[in-house]
Amino acid sequence: MAKVFSGIQPTGIIHIGNYLGAIKNWVELQEEHDCLFSIVDLHSLTVPYDPKGLGDRIKDALATNIAAGLDPEKATIFVQSMVPEHTELTWLLTTITPVGNLERMTQYKEKSEKQGLLSGLLCYPILMAADILLYKADLVPVGEDQIQHLELTRVIARKFNSTFGEYFPEPQPKLSKATRVMALNDPTSKMSKSIPGSYIALTDDPEEIRTKVKRAVTASDVEGEVSPGVANLFTLLEAFAPKDVYNKFAKDLEDGNLKFSELKPALAEAIVEELTPIREKRQELLAKPKFLEEVVAAGADRARREAKQHMQEIKELMGLNLTF
Ligand code: AMP
Ligand code: TRP
Repeated sequence: MAKVFSGIQPTGIIHIGNYLGAIKNWVELQEEHDCLFSIVDLHSLTVPYDPKGLGDRIKDALATNIAAGLDPEKATIFVQSMVPEHTELTWLLTTITPVGNLERMTQYKEKSEKQGLLSGLLCYPILMAADILLYKADLVPVGEDQIQHLELTRVIARKFNSTFGEYFPEPQPKLSKATRVMALNDPTSKMSKSIPGSYIALTDDPEEIRTKVKRAVTASDVEGEVSPGVANLFTLLEAFAPKDVYNKFAKDLEDGNLKFSELKPALAEAIVEELTPIREKRQELLAKPKFLEEVVAAGADRARREAKQHMQEIKELMGLNLTF
């Protein structure tokens, strides 16, 4: 049985890119594997944020993920900062991670342009490597934007193994079918919570969903070619609509008969149908804070038992056994 680890930041919005790129994959993997899923609150501190609202955002991320199908009976669900071994291992890994590798990370380059050079932002991928390696995970279900961070995780694992002795497996990414959902208002960049108008949130109501799909950009620069916007709508249609609906529109596209006045409402209804139960379940869960607290307390307990054991072994390999 493979060990699976993944994380999501509590930034207040979970959109259908996160859902198709990551969460749906988690829900499948929890059936067959030993899975840990973490709300990575420490990662979310690396961009400007409102400390007062953080607790609510963590609670919301938990409720939304459980509503989307994560099952605390099947997977270990916890909040990153509740397991201090994540930060402890991060420090140990900083000592074997070249700064050059960190400076090459695309996300670091993009984010640091907006907010300046903070060392937390630079070391973000080391914290992510620590999350994964702490549990000796084999598989990491993420969207395409995290592939580079995973490559670095493998570099760090190899460096550790060759320096201190074979210990960490080299974790592999597990990509879903819709691994890079594009922005609805600009299909040349990825759907992102930092771009308003780019996303459909899992919490959007049917009217918002219909309006956003209706407004989705489909224009093509090149005559006769499928534009990025249309390709994106087909990615969404394949993920959300029944197979026969998808096949009908794929055939229309092929035959040159595609009508957006038919495609867009059909897509909107398919999304509404899948998201409505999630939105309702999330509301129910938010009204049960005690239950959510119990889920993360039990999850953190389970995660911590394993984390402690591994930390002890890692420290011994690094010479930190402290028995004289
Ligand atoms: P984040 O919200 O940055 O914590 O991302 C959570 C997960 O969603 C990660 O596995 C990302 O790779 C994935 N993800 C984020 N945006 C997209 C997108 N537009 N398409 C597909 N996956 C995405
Ligand atoms: N960096 C990831 C993102 O923004 C979130 C994350 C943190 C993560 N730690 C992880 C994902 C470990 C997979 C495994 O999406």
